[in-house]
Amino acid sequence: MEKSIWRKKPLSAYEADFNNNQLKRVLGRWELTSLGIGAVIGGGIFVLTGVAAHDWAGPALAVAFVVAGLACTFAALCYAEFASILPVEGSAYAYSYGTIGEFFAWFIGWNLILEYMMGATTVAVSWSGYFEKFLHLFHIEPPVWLMNDPFTTHEKLVEIAKATNQAAPEMGFSMNLPAFLIVWLVTYILVKGIKEAASTNNIIVITKVSVVIFVIIAGAFFVDTANWTPFIPTPVIDDQGQQHFGLQGIVTAASIIFFAYIGFDAVSTQAGEAINPKKDVPFAIIASLVICTLLYILVSLVLTGMVKYDTLDKKAPVAQAFADQGLTWAVYIITIAAIAGLTSVMLVMMLSQTRIFLGMSKDGLLPSFFREIHPQFKTPWKSTILVGAIVSLVAAFTPIDKVSEMTSSGTLLAFAMICGAVWLLRVREPNLVRPYKVPLLPVIATLGIVCNLYLMWNLRVDTKIAFLVWGVLGTIIYFLYSRNRSNLNNSNSGKAPKI
Ligand code: ALA
Repeated sequence: MEKSIWRKKPLSAYEADFNNNQLKRVLGRWELTSLGIGAVIGGGIFVLTGVAAHDWAGPALAVAFVVAGLACTFAALCYAEFASILPVEGSAYAYSYGTIGEFFAWFIGWNLILEYMMGATTVAVSWSGYFEKFLHLFHIEPPVWLMNDPFTTHEKLVEIAKATNQAAPEMGFSMNLPAFLIVWLVTYILVKGIKEAASTNNIIVITKVSVVIFVIIAGAFFVDTANWTPFIPTPVIDDQGQQHFGLQGIVTAASIIFFAYIGFDAVSTQAGEAINPKKDVPFAIIASLVICTLLYILVSLVLTGMVKYDTLDKKAPVAQAFADQGLTWAVYIITIAAIAGLTSVMLVMMLSQTRIFLGMSKDGLLPSFFREIHPQFKTPWKSTILVGAIVSLVAAFTPIDKVSEMTSSGTLLAFAMICGAVWLLRVREPNLVRPYKVPLLPVIATLGIVCNLYLMWNLRVDTKIAFLVWGVLGTIIYFLYSRNRSNLNNSNSGKAPKI
């Protein structure tokens, strides 16, 4: 077969993949929904709400959550239709392989690495930050060099030296030990089995959702409606010409807190482990997004009602809002929930990354290493350990949190591409059986593409440049390796490879 970048995986091959599945089918619809919520509620709501309200949206933070939630809803509906047609692991990557073509599929898969692997890495660093706060509550202060990567440690030590009029220190050994260890704990659970991972996730999800509900209900008693006025503060232009507050400020806030929604699509990577993927995966994608959107809107209203937006804490806004009311005991609960929440985000993100790699490897675009399944645990164990190694080392030794916006950029592009792909498939294959169909698809898909690309456009210039570099790197790997190894080079490309 000609090595066209537009060649598509035949839909019959998906059927073969579905029948050749070696993973354990143990996940029901609520377990899948719980995985979605597990991946979603984390650093976004517990951390980013502070900056988004304080600097960009004011009390209209809730509107920013609606805007970002809408962009996700359009994508979620499209994901749901795809998942109902092609119930295989690999998510957006697999969907676009059958519809747009190989190179685009590869490109989406490449971007999903930003969402899942880079997402897990930045979340591991946030986890360590919250863990440090937790230790602080008990007056335990570990040395800086055990809690940060070498660059951040050096920055902190230079600051201390300046403040005390001492000579700046040399850069020495330092690692983010908590981030390193938590990633290996998560890796261990993931290698052990999907059932173990799902059960751990369920416990964490119940904990964090309970605490979020607690924040909403307890916080409601401390809301002072005067704090909501003005709801949209008067726009201010900064030195760099950027508008804060007003409508533009709300859009920028939406692109920041978009991170809080990332993860609901992770459900679509677990189709290989779902008992009834055609029905339950679409259900879980939409259910997890709806539940999280409602919780987010309520939390943001409560938060901006409890504290005047310009006095909101930028690092731990939720915990600080309760501390300001004298509810110190609530700070313990919120900190524990944040630690738990971030753990499950890592769990599902790393799980999703290995399932995307599995899909890409089955198609020949990645080496066979990524599809080796453990005979007893039935998990792609080698790939899981590799992902664990990369995530733990990057989290421990690099200032990854400074480029965390890359996670959003990769996800936003993947969402926009999925909206386009599901529409294209409707036009090309109108007669396919679709257990779930997006209503008013042309409208929803267009809105999905426009909203997600617009939010992407609102990210920082540095992020866009880094994203471009990432894209070029992915393109080079595709042309040097994947294109030549693709199963579609074989004449019997309609058959799934043996694994
Ligand atoms: N949505 C996830 C979080 O907020 C990535 O941590």
